[in-house]
Amino acid sequence: MQVHHHRYDAVIVGAGGAGLRAAIEVAGTCRAAVLSKLHPTRSHTGAAQGGMCAALANVEQDSAEWHTFDTVKGGDYLVDQAAARIMCAEAVDAVIELEHYGLPFNRTADGRIDQRRFGGHTRNHGEAPVRRACYSADRTGHMILQTLYQQCVKRGVTFFDELMALDVVLTDGRVAGVVAYELATGDLHVFATKGLLFATGGFGKMFKVTSNAHALTGDGPGLLFRRGIPLQDMEFFQFHPTGIYKLGILLSEAARGEGGVLRNTDGERFMERYAPTVKDLAPRDMVSRAMLTEIREGRGLGPDRDFLHLDLTHLPPEQIDAKLPDIADFVRTYQGLEPKSDLIPIQPTAHYAMGGIPTNIDAEVVIDAAGTTIPGLYAAGECACVSVHGANRLGTNSLLDIVVFGRRGGRAMADFVSEAPPPELPPDAQGEVRRRIEALLASPGGERVAVVRQQLQEQMMLEASVFRTEESLAKARGHLHELRGRYGDVAIDDKGAVFNYDLTEGLELGYLLDLAEALVVSARARTESRGAHFRDDHPTRDDATWMRHTLASRHPDGSVRLSYKPVDGGLYQPMERKY
Ligand code: FUM
Repeated sequence: MQVHHHRYDAVIVGAGGAGLRAAIEVAGTCRAAVLSKLHPTRSHTGAAQGGMCAALANVEQDSAEWHTFDTVKGGDYLVDQAAARIMCAEAVDAVIELEHYGLPFNRTADGRIDQRRFGGHTRNHGEAPVRRACYSADRTGHMILQTLYQQCVKRGVTFFDELMALDVVLTDGRVAGVVAYELATGDLHVFATKGLLFATGGFGKMFKVTSNAHALTGDGPGLLFRRGIPLQDMEFFQFHPTGIYKLGILLSEAARGEGGVLRNTDGERFMERYAPTVKDLAPRDMVSRAMLTEIREGRGLGPDRDFLHLDLTHLPPEQIDAKLPDIADFVRTYQGLEPKSDLIPIQPTAHYAMGGIPTNIDAEVVIDAAGTTIPGLYAAGECACVSVHGANRLGTNSLLDIVVFGRRGGRAMADFVSEAPPPELPPDAQGEVRRRIEALLASPGGERVAVVRQQLQEQMMLEASVFRTEESLAKARGHLHELRGRYGDVAIDDKGAVFNYDLTEGLELGYLLDLAEALVVSARARTESRGAHFRDDHPTRDDATWMRHTLASRHPDGSVRLSYKPVDGGLYQPMERKY
């Protein structure tokens, strides 16, 4: 295993929307590099479909203030309101900037950026759904990713593709570097750097049914967790209502924004009972729970009565062709159905982690309730938790988050590295990574990575997904303990150095297990229901006790320890969440 040494001022890990937007900000200000496990344009931002919201008010009255209110209410009041206010205020500028970068948004007849409805986005504090999502058919994330990548290429950003970050080097309480594994060669790369920004995306692959790509294994949060950085609000994991039945592939909420509805086995549009004002456009946590309630009460479909229908058959066919072309093709390809005439079998799919690496509004990583930062360390996008989404994210706020906080993080990091002295790397910075890889390759054990991962995904789905109880979470904890033991016994058949996915999937599984444990421990402690965290045994929100963020830390003895920090509240006081 050869080791290559590099020296940069700033390194960004991850080349999805947040990483690329940060890269644009640092480009030309210092020596900067972007590391990515994938080729950048294969990053998961490209799978985001329905839109990026901003109160442009292009098609009807809207305001950043209404957007902030919806974000706070949608997040079940666990949102840090100052951060949400910044995100919603900067949204308009962020969209215009993307337009000027060349992003092909859909247009109104008079040439403005068109906007459509999405769940939880309302006019005048909940009166009715509002058209706030700017979109590019149902390929908005794809367009953002391509546009930002082109801007990076134009600025001469240096990319290291197919390098998987595996460790952070912190010396004297500040960032000194990052260690990565090169997929094509099996070599290690040690980057000395003053500034390091993680933008590695989510970790939905801990669940069996997920909209997340195979690469979404939480490497960034996972490696920081192992180095003592706490993870915030891990118990809040969003299930998107419309995943393709059994496969989990996303069918955009834009389908409902365009007028699609959900139906049960009686053909009933059941969301009218659960959210009489906004119906199918309620926030995702509420819709997913309503769907699973229908299924629990016997109104699901199929031999196992375990799915529901998305109905687009009443939409004009030309509207489907123009506004929802990709998801229409997914239905044809994966289900053999014609969405213009057939009802589409769907089920909730694990989609988005509200929790992650705690950050402030400049994407600096904060490690405690006092707001202590680690100089030079930043995170943005889904891997981060700046807490603009609280306990439940509204659809289209994610593409907004990556652009706004990618930009803020990049700018803050560029400022920081312009003043910071060069880092001192220890002589064997890559030592821990080398030992981890060698141990996995040498393991004589009898377990298989794929088998342990499948078990993890099945248990998490059964015991720690939309509905939870003390009993289910205790079982999940027990299963994780057992799986961790089995993980210690996995063998890697491929001993080669070239694209050894057997090995890299083994490394990824380690992170998934750690993050699943942080999720389960955090969820078990939170004896209330809020946003995406619903406890059948504690079905109401308890603001007196639980209006606080969870910080889960890895103790040196291997256990997960919890502490808490206050929510940065503000104008909007918690109210009953009716839609
Ligand atoms: O449904 C969707 O198009 C997903 C959007 C999002 O997660 O923000």
